[in-house]
Formats: sequence, structure tokens, C-alpha cells
Amino acid sequence: MTETEFNNILTNDIKKVEHNLLSFLPDCKDGQESVVQAMEYSLINGGKRLRPVFALEFANACGGSMEDALPLACAMEYIHTYSLIHDDLPCMDNDDLRRGKPTCHKQFGEATAILAGDGLLNEAVNIIIKTSLASDLKIALISCLYQASGISGMIYGQELDIENENKKLSIDKLNTIHHYKTGKLLSCAFQLGGLIASPQDVKVLKEIGYKVGLAFQIQDDILDVISDSKTLGKPVGSDASNHKETYTTLIGVEASQKEVDKLFKEAIKLVYSLSINHGLIIEIIELLWKRVS
Ligand code: IPE
Ligand code: IPE
Ligand code: MG
Ligand code: MG
Ligand code: MG
Repeated sequence: MTETEFNNILTNDIKKVEHNLLSFLPDCKDGQESVVQAMEYSLINGGKRLRPVFALEFANACGGSMEDALPLACAMEYIHTYSLIHDDLPCMDNDDLRRGKPTCHKQFGEATAILAGDGLLNEAVNIIIKTSLASDLKIALISCLYQASGISGMIYGQELDIENENKKLSIDKLNTIHHYKTGKLLSCAFQLGGLIASPQDVKVLKEIGYKVGLAFQIQDDILDVISDSKTLGKPVGSDASNHKETYTTLIGVEASQKEVDKLFKEAIKLVYSLSINHGLIIEIIELLWKRVS
């Protein structure tokens, strides 16, 4: 596959997702405009759309239909976007910029931002319920997404992240935080394809997702130190100003990058161990490996 063909596929996936994201928003009731507007504001215009792209392309690689995967990809982006809205709140990371725009609470106020996040989390499940997939598959998909994002998944990770501000951490503890706050949800994007088309592969897909998720969060820690807010579309130095221990404070940027390299290599090896159509998946993971934003 040429670089142009690869880029066209990604652009097309992102277009499909962005075209469909807003179509899943419910109609406004009287007086409800600001919450739905805030949901819309945070959903559109930006973001790498990494999770939906992985969901679509893993479904495809596992022999599933991308049409079936599209609502699931959008549901993932709803949950991810909610997590970002809440993560940016003054009581959490207190950040003012997200995806190159004022954060949701800066634009709409804290109460509306909290409700918009809650709204996205709720609508994600409705998106899946409304699909025409078989009922047992819907239950498996909902269970995957909500266990990963719930109190035994991403919410637990966010709780640990906040509780451990101003504390010295070991690498093991930090790996646990990163695994829950980022790895759990990101891994769902890998598992959805397996759930709809290749159930025997779900265990390995989950493991690949955990490795990519941890690598992704270490990259995020590194970028918070070495990048700039224009490139990232969010503030840099957020971790330091919140007194969070990260990979960079524990072992430095260079050793952190080595850990990222190791994890991506392990993830790629696991992808090759599956009898799926690897080509595009490997290319997306390699692109992610080189990410600068
Ligand atoms: C940011 O996720 C939160 C982390 C888990 C580090 P992304 O870097 O995927 O954010 P968007 O979707 O591209 O804005
Ligand atoms: C957040 O990690 C992970 C989430 C669950 C949202 P960060 O707090 O490091 O993410 P950014 O840097 O604000 O995107
Ligand atoms: Mg955070
Ligand atoms: Mg944050
Ligand atoms: Mg960060």
C-alpha cells in the first residue's frame, strides 16, 4: 500500500466518524439547548479520533463489517470525549484548552460541562442499543465499554491519578494508574472488532490494547514536557503544575521513550500473532508510535 492510499483510508475513516458523531445526539427538549450544545461543541472539531479509527479498522481486519462497527466507534468517541471534559474541570486537571479550543467548562460553565459529560456517557449506550446487532452481541459490547470506562476501569484510574498528586510514586504504581485511566478504554477499541467478528482473538486484542494504551499515555506524559500547546491543542506543563509524578519525572524523557518503543514493538509482535488482516493495523500503530500530538 502506498503512503497516499494509507492516508486516504485514514482520512476516509475519520470523515465517516465525524459525519456520524452528531447524528447520534438526541433532539433538544425545551430549555435543554446548552447541554446538547456543549456535547456538540466537545464532539466536533478536533481530536485525533484514534479510538474510532482503531475500532473501525480492527473490525475490518477481523473480517467484520465496518458499517456495524461505525456506531460502536462513535460510542467510544462519546465516552472518550466525556472523559476529557471531566478531566479538564477545575477540580480535576484544571485545564483551559482542549483540541485547540477553550475547554467545555470555560465555554459553557462548570455545571453545563459536567452535565454534557454525563450526557455523552449516557448517549453512548443508547447508540449501541439502537443498532440492529444481535442482543447478546450488544450486551457483550456494552459490557466491554462500560467495564472499561467505569469504576473498575477509567474512573478508577482517574481517582488514583488525582489521589496521588503531590506524592512520590514507583514505576509499578504509575503503570497501574496509566493502565486504568488510559489503557482500559483504549483497549476496547481493539476488542470491539474481535467481539463482532473474531471472538477467539479478544484476549490477545485486549492485551495489544493494554500495551498500546500504556505506550500512548507515556507518550502523553512526554509530550506534556517537550511539546507546545499549539501543536498539542492542549496546555503543556499540566502534569507539573498539578504536581503529578509521570514517566518523565521518574526516569526522564529518554528512558521513557525507550519504554514507549519497547511497548509498541511488543504490541506489533502480538498483532502478527493473530490470524487477521494485519497490514493496515501495523501501519496505524507505527503512525501512532511516531506521533507528535
Ligand atoms: C487524551 O487522549 C487523553 C489521554 C488518554 C492521554 P487523545 O490524545 O486521544 O485526545 P484526542 O481525542 O486526540 O483529543
Ligand atoms: C487523562 O490523562 C486520561 C483520561 C482518562 C481523560 P491526562 O490528564 O494526562 O490527559 P490530558 O493530557 O489532559 O489529555
Ligand atoms: Mg488527567
Ligand atoms: Mg488532563
Ligand atoms: Mg496528559
